[in-house]
Amino acid sequence: MYVLGLTTMGESAAALLHDDEIVACAEEERFSRKKHHVGFPHQAVRYCLRQAGIGIESVDHVTHYWKPWVLGHRVAHTLSLALKSFSLFEARARRGASQVRGHYLPMFYMPLKVRRDLGGGRFRFHYVDHHVSHAASAFYVSPFEESAVLTVDGAGEDTTVLFAHGRGERLEVLRRIKLPHSLGQFYSAATNFLGFDMFAGDEYKVMGMAGWGEPAFYETLSREFLVRDAPGSFALDVTFLDHHLAKHHRYGERARALFGPPRRPDEDLVQRHYDVAASVQKAFEETLFHLLRWLHERTGSTNLCMAGGCALNSLANGRIAANTPFERFFYQPAAHDAGGALGSALYLRHGLLGLERRAEAMRHAYYGPGFSEAECRAALDEAGIPCERLEDDALLPRVASALAAGEIVAWFQGRMEWGPRALGNRSILADPRDARMKETINRKIKLREPFRPFAPSLLAEASERYFGRALDAPFMITVFPVLEQRRGEIPAVVHVDGTARPQLVERSTNPRYWRLIHEFEKRTGVPVLLNTSFNVQEPIVCTPRDAVRTFLATEVDHLALGNLLVSR
Ligand SMILES: [Fe+2]
Repeated sequence: MYVLGLTTMGESAAALLHDDEIVACAEEERFSRKKHHVGFPHQAVRYCLRQAGIGIESVDHVTHYWKPWVLGHRVAHTLSLALKSFSLFEARARRGASQVRGHYLPMFYMPLKVRRDLGGGRFRFHYVDHHVSHAASAFYVSPFEESAVLTVDGAGEDTTVLFAHGRGERLEVLRRIKLPHSLGQFYSAATNFLGFDMFAGDEYKVMGMAGWGEPAFYETLSREFLVRDAPGSFALDVTFLDHHLAKHHRYGERARALFGPPRRPDEDLVQRHYDVAASVQKAFEETLFHLLRWLHERTGSTNLCMAGGCALNSLANGRIAANTPFERFFYQPAAHDAGGALGSALYLRHGLLGLERRAEAMRHAYYGPGFSEAECRAALDEAGIPCERLEDDALLPRVASALAAGEIVAWFQGRMEWGPRALGNRSILADPRDARMKETINRKIKLREPFRPFAPSLLAEASERYFGRALDAPFMITVFPVLEQRRGEIPAVVHVDGTARPQLVERSTNPRYWRLIHEFEKRTGVPVLLNTSFNVQEPIVCTPRDAVRTFLATEVDHLALGNLLVSR
């Protein structure tokens, strides 16, 4: 049985299941080259079908990550705002009308659209609740038979937080928090307040800044504006910081009174901005822990699955263990809306049809397209770039030596990653031992804000050595403290507060990348590489052609396309 899952608004994506197996998942942005692509995932769908070697006529079910008819709550909320604040009402009503025209109405025609664009098909079409899709994307591929599940994002149809309990094939919804009380929208509004762009996914910049600030505004924030009003609940005062007004860079008096003036994008960052970030992050975290404590009480579980855009807050994720009773964790690597494509398909199989869960948990994210050596060679030929072909036994030592000598390598191998993190198949790699590497990379490759940390890939076997215990962290989605005595060994990947966001590389899931890090270890005694995504301003590279173009736009020293090596 084939199930095709779709995410069709922001972060659009497609995923394909064949019985128990995840055949393919990919985000449309990687093909369209438009970050956070909005719209139907034409190319991602075609890729998924191609990967399976089937046409749409073989697909039994198509699932969609959103129920377009759950509009009532939003309408009622917008109308209620008219009594409170005309500007809030106006901003929402205007956006609501364009959303209905632009996104909601076309969703009703989605089955027709799929048939028209892909040439027919006998599939049955299913709309799945947005947060249920997020929840399914984590629970059904987790290693847990039983687990508490929390999903948190800006908003689905009307829900912003979903509490659930997964047992076997059952995913029981316990409770929902609805608009306007949204942790994701609060964080996004603060992102724009700090002069960044929520539409560009800049929330991670606020997270990066938080480590440099003091949470000076936290007390007021949590007493007056983001209030934990009852167990498992919170209330956001949208007249303080409203997501819809913030989209247009408009902010209320009370936000200005507390935080000072909003930052213009071109304005220098000062300590106050870092303090706002630290306060917002702390308010976010404390609210999250508060919700999780309730979820633990209710389920009695010490396992936790999470998804939804807010589950990409790696800093908060890293603090859950110390602040709640949860002990074991699984995060869907595509925690943002793209993951709804996979989640809606999984929910159909298990939640709706009751079919038995796949036995194996998701241990890697290599579900995107891969390319042959001939395709890699053609991309280089097209650009007129000479290359050398080396077997792994020669290539891996050569690249490891270059890295140990302080050179930077663009590393392209195998199938592309699913989700926002590069995990060694579309990565730029460097030596983590050199404290100045951050500046070198920023200079040679991308203009990044100086507060943004780089992350390490390390051999799973080295977890104890750097973190004092065996971590389960394959997806770079959780921040952990690095042992104090080890921080000096890998300064380029340790954040100002002594933490890092690691990818533990297992030999069984990515043997070639594992071997490369091991070769680096042989030369340096350090089983760690600095790993940042292979892209400049654009989405992460997908094809060999994207890789060559991006390589040429940087001063990276080497490009490895599979077994083909290019050196400057
Ligand atoms: Fe979402």
